[in-house]
Amino acid sequence: MSTILIANWKNKTLSVNDPNVSLLRLFQNHRLDWMHACGGKGRCTTCKVIVLEGMENFSQVTPAENRYRAMGALQSNERLSCQVRVLGDVTVEVPEEYKLPHITYS
Ligand code: FES
Repeated sequence: MSTILIANWKNKTLSVNDPNVSLLRLFQNHRLDWMHACGGKGRCTTCKVIVLEGMENFSQVTPAENRYRAMGALQSNERLSCQVRVLGDVTVEVPEEYKLPHITYS
């Protein structure tokens, strides 16, 4: 079983019970409120995570992510949570610009 650590959200730690679901769905399954303006369709970047450790433990970069990388809207250390699956231990952060106002981050 893999683990997701959210470093700037009080070190929340989530277990990955199903490697076939997206990271965004894992957040939702753990009742974490995470921005996802397009509804998880790969048409925005509001669901992105900054990857601090374990980039190699995500699934392959998707066409949607490549499109945003080419536009400069997704950096090489970022992934779209609605597009990726978690295949091993990772540490991520919530981007400053997509923090939700009703949540206290660390
Ligand atoms: S929610 Fe819009 S790209 Fe992920």
